Amino acid sequence: MATPFEAAKLGPITIKNRIIKAATFEGRAPRGAVTQEMIDFHVQMAEGGVGMTTMAYLGVTPEGRTDKNVILLSDPANVEKLQGVTSAVHAAGAKISAQVGHAGPVANSGSNKAQSLAPSAGRSPMGSQFAEATEADLERILIGFTDAARNAVDAGFDCIELHLGHGYLLSSFLSPKANKRTDRYGGSLEARALYPRMVVEAVKEVVGDRIALTAKISMRDGTKGGIELEESIPTAKLFEADGHLDALVLTAGSSLNNPMYLFRGKAPRKEFAKTLPQPIKLGFQLAGWHFMPSYPYEEAYFLPMAMQFREVLSMPLVLLGGIANEATIEQGLDAGFEFVAMGRALLAEPDLIKKYEAGTASVSVCTHCNKCMPSIYTGTRCTEFDGVK
Ligand SMILES: Cc1cc2nc3c(=O)[nH]c(=O)nc-3n(C[C@H](O)[C@H](O)[C@H](O)COP(=O)(O)O)c2cc1C
Repeated sequence: MATPFEAAKLGPITIKNRIIKAATFEGRAPRGAVTQEMIDFHVQMAEGGVGMTTMAYLGVTPEGRTDKNVILLSDPANVEKLQGVTSAVHAAGAKISAQVGHAGPVANSGSNKAQSLAPSAGRSPMGSQFAEATEADLERILIGFTDAARNAVDAGFDCIELHLGHGYLLSSFLSPKANKRTDRYGGSLEARALYPRMVVEAVKEVVGDRIALTAKISMRDGTKGGIELEESIPTAKLFEADGHLDALVLTAGSSLNNPMYLFRGKAPRKEFAKTLPQPIKLGFQLAGWHFMPSYPYEEAYFLPMAMQFREVLSMPLVLLGGIANEATIEQGLDAGFEFVAMGRALLAEPDLIKKYEAGTASVSVCTHCNKCMPSIYTGTRCTEFDGVK
């Protein structure tokens, strides 16, 4: 059985241990600028012992940013500044992945000053509207992904994690609830998977075996009519058969329709409401429970679902969701996952993996209060413990 501190290959790269820092949007790129705070954030994760940290998330087109404070990886002007992040992380002994995505219907069109796009037109629970992406939009976005992939290699990233989860654009294409298209990209599971597969293939063509390529994919949207395992497992099999991905990172939930399904634990409704402008704030205060129902937290909460993928896939899989204690990391590896990804526990204690390795701790202090979630607007951090700076 693999142990947490044993090196492993991820496609063409070798990671020194089995722990990946999950993508947690840093909130350290005002107007898309790479800052020293961004470098410091990831250096803390690297110095804290993770095998690979993940920069989250990097945009491919202006309307595909969640808001204006997302770095555009497709812009070559950012390559040199991003080299500052990757070289600092490498010097601190870890690898670094770039999470690359298009926010689709999750994007804030007001902040981006650009129309948000989705497979089909609609309105988010918070009231913002998104338009159906045309064939020309899809071609342009595909080029954005390949430009971003080229720049990721040039910037020194070791891996690209394509964002195919949480209701973002590619995840929305997979979802029968979000994708009502009647062209070649909508309808059957294979048709809904076509555009995401085209993106994966095009990105792989650019990166080749120079860096690793993974995708974070939703097992369930966690909403009525959304994707369920009956479809997400065959979709994962399509990606496996295509052979372009070095691993799948298994997630669930939708930032747009059911954010707490991703996280479990307490819903930070009061703190979230503070980040909203009026009148959306008032609406949220009155009906926040509806948009943000909470789910009880337990360690490795996605493990039972992820096991159903493990049983039928042979490609490497990354277990995520409620991995906080050392015993849970071991549980995931024993269950056949090649890596685990950890988010909140590392925001609370960036040096947690070092502590586990040194034997000075075996459990995380994170209480899953989820107050780190709304902190993405002001600099992502743990509000309860002396965590990431
Ligand atoms: C503050 C915060 C920001 C996040 N930002 C992202 C993101 O940009 N992209 C993403 O795929 N997931 C994001 N996530 C979700 C995490 O990657 C992860 O899926 C989730 O926190 C569950 O893992 P955990 O139990 O180890 O925290 C974020 C989570 C938190 C807490």
